[in-house]
Amino acid sequence: MITTERQGNVLVIVSNNPPVNALGQKVRQGLLAGIEAAAADASIDAVVIRCDGTTFFAGADITEFGKPPMGPDLNKVINLFEDSRKPVIAAIHGTALGGGLEVALACHYRVAVPSARLGLPEVKLGLIPGAGGTQRLPRVVGVAAALPMVVGGDPINAKKAAEIGLVDRVVSEGKLPEEAVAFAREVVGKPLPVSSRRTDRLADAVKDPAVFDNFRREQGRKLRGFEAPEAAIQAVKAAVELPFDAGMARERELFLKLMAGDQSKAQRHLFFAERAANKIENLGPGTPLIPINKVGILGAGTMGGGIAMNFLSAGIPVTLLEREQAPLDRGIATIAKNYERLAQRGSLTPEKVEAAMALITPTLSFESLADCDLVIEAVFENMDIKKEVFTKLDAVVKQGAILASNTSYLNVDEIAAMTKRPEFVLGLHFFSPANIMRLLEVVRGAKTLQSVLATAMALSRKINKIAVVSGVCYGFIGNRMLSPRQREAQKLILEGAKPWDVDRVLTDFGFPMGPFQMADLAGLDIGWSKEASKSSTVREVLCERDRRGQKTGKGFYDYDENRRGTPSAEVEEIIAGFIVQSGKPPRAIDDQEILERLLYPMVNEGAKILEEGMAQRASDIDVVWINGYGWPVFTGGPMFWADTIGLAKIVEGLKRHAALLGPEFSLSKLLEDKAAQGGRFNG
Ligand code: 3HC
Ligand code: NAI
Repeated sequence: MITTERQGNVLVIVSNNPPVNALGQKVRQGLLAGIEAAAADASIDAVVIRCDGTTFFAGADITEFGKPPMGPDLNKVINLFEDSRKPVIAAIHGTALGGGLEVALACHYRVAVPSARLGLPEVKLGLIPGAGGTQRLPRVVGVAAALPMVVGGDPINAKKAAEIGLVDRVVSEGKLPEEAVAFAREVVGKPLPVSSRRTDRLADAVKDPAVFDNFRREQGRKLRGFEAPEAAIQAVKAAVELPFDAGMARERELFLKLMAGDQSKAQRHLFFAERAANKIENLGPGTPLIPINKVGILGAGTMGGGIAMNFLSAGIPVTLLEREQAPLDRGIATIAKNYERLAQRGSLTPEKVEAAMALITPTLSFESLADCDLVIEAVFENMDIKKEVFTKLDAVVKQGAILASNTSYLNVDEIAAMTKRPEFVLGLHFFSPANIMRLLEVVRGAKTLQSVLATAMALSRKINKIAVVSGVCYGFIGNRMLSPRQREAQKLILEGAKPWDVDRVLTDFGFPMGPFQMADLAGLDIGWSKEASKSSTVREVLCERDRRGQKTGKGFYDYDENRRGTPSAEVEEIIAGFIVQSGKPPRAIDDQEILERLLYPMVNEGAKILEEGMAQRASDIDVVWINGYGWPVFTGGPMFWADTIGLAKIVEGLKRHAALLGPEFSLSKLLEDKAAQGGRFNG
């Protein structure tokens, strides 16, 4: 796992711990032995630490978290590096993350190849760095550069790292081993820079302590509800205010508290859940993949355009088909506008935008799709139209190509049955806006071939999506679980809860929006027509009064010119009218009941999805709701959250509310059994 090789007067310590050189117990042990050997050997003048494989140390071994600690402690190893009388050089390729960057920070010098990335992503696991990262990084790069790295968790590239003083030299790609050793020889005999003893870069924050409050203010909403980012700010502040050892003690205290808390458990669950989601049961790694070099997309509307951008950005040519010239032109113009916006924001270079736009071919003819390897249909959500389109596709698209539907609810097997190749048909359910949302539900039809499924999963990574496999059922995983929540939200306002109370309970829970804010944003008139409107629901009446959501300036809320919503007296009056009609007096409904009525039935539906085998594992459901619907990350998703509060409590709540949940509701047997046995969904 750890070997050493002598190159003249330089000892090179090499780690080989695939897949990501995590700093597990054996690695720590090996590093300790390596640095001690270097110290004891009079013929060695300098030490280089580097990793074999794809990456430098990508952090502590997360699988060890929550288990009894096994020595040596990472801090002990790191301190030995820093205290070495011989210069220690970290040679970085791939990613130096978390504990990996902390190792590098304790080295006297850091060299990196241009493609390397360096970061402290611990906040994404609900933690802060626990091996001196919060104390050494600000000493090396200053508080202004350290705060976004420690609090935001995103890595930076080698060039940026060199600019801020984190990397001492950017060396040639592919020549790291030799150039690191050469660098080591250059610094032999020079005074050793020791990160923990530096104070020069802290001076700015000492002069202007408001830097912390300003940073907190700028981050604002992004950090709402999360505990780790605030702890990260506190830890960096300690680096400025306290001597190094006291700062380290403060970091430790904050780290241990977070490690024991529910949020970090939830976020660590999510880390492994997202990686597990891409794995399909009973599918060997040897399953042959279908090469996807050209993609066809049907429909250039809201979804078709966004879906196309994913492939264009990944360098895969797209042929975009519409039924008429006008919507085709509109669709292409929207794609161009979205790319322009990305270029303006600096997210993409103008060259990348130009390259992406050059890969798109607009068409009105099905024949142009003949040589596509994958065709994704995103036409209107109507079974007859979908059937017609798939019959046509089957006739023109080459054999061996995959035909996919982006349907939100419709039966993929019924669509597949229109073709002579149902084994090449599946659902690829993107989320709006499709170029941004990372979730992709991959809907496995009854006859879908394993290699078709495997191809979809591999492709999802290429276009930077998190894919989750779903079986064929109404609404698949995500929308199916949304249904009971929507139903209860509607019922609650007719029992006496106000729409803004319902929304507030969910935003307090951590959702970015509640169901009524969401409805206003999407438009209340989706699927509504004046002619068919019968004033029979609150929504119909709102549409009849031209309260169609944000776009008309009013919906469930009244909106000002900044699209800020305030409760509407008119809406209250409309709802009151429905309550009178129902003959049941309104009642006061507390926040806890609102929460239970909205979320417990979702957990119940999730359990049914598992029971029916529509999801492979409970954690897949968590991945869907976190990445597709804004379920708060720090709770770990609906199923993990249910585990945290206890399944018996969920079942008790559902039974207590059973009369109000109505005949549409039935308790999941799996949920009831697990609750009775004191079980969990996850692990
Ligand atoms: N510990 C244990 N296993 C890890 C790991 C880690 N730190 N990082 C990745 N893995 C595992 C993954 O679970 C996955 O396992 P699997 O194949 O069985 O599913 C495998 O390594 C490959 O990971 P990815 O699929 O994510 O590979 P990519 O090539 O897409 O990404 C990566 C590589 C960028 C390194 C990404 O894995 C990553 O971001 N890892 C986590 C980095 C991190 O959070 N580090 C901080 C850890 S906390 C810490 O260091 C505390 C310290 O301050 C004391
Ligand atoms: P949309 O109405 O914006 O776009 C549909 C496009 O398809 C229109 O431009 C239309 O001209 C075109 N079209 C219709 N029939 C066609 C045909 N026979 N040949 C070629 N083009 C044709 O609809 P949207 O919102 O993009 O939805 C498309 C599909 O995606 C639906 O199945 C929907 O359920 C699904 N979906 C929608 C989401 C959303 O948030 N809008 C989210 C996820 C899935």
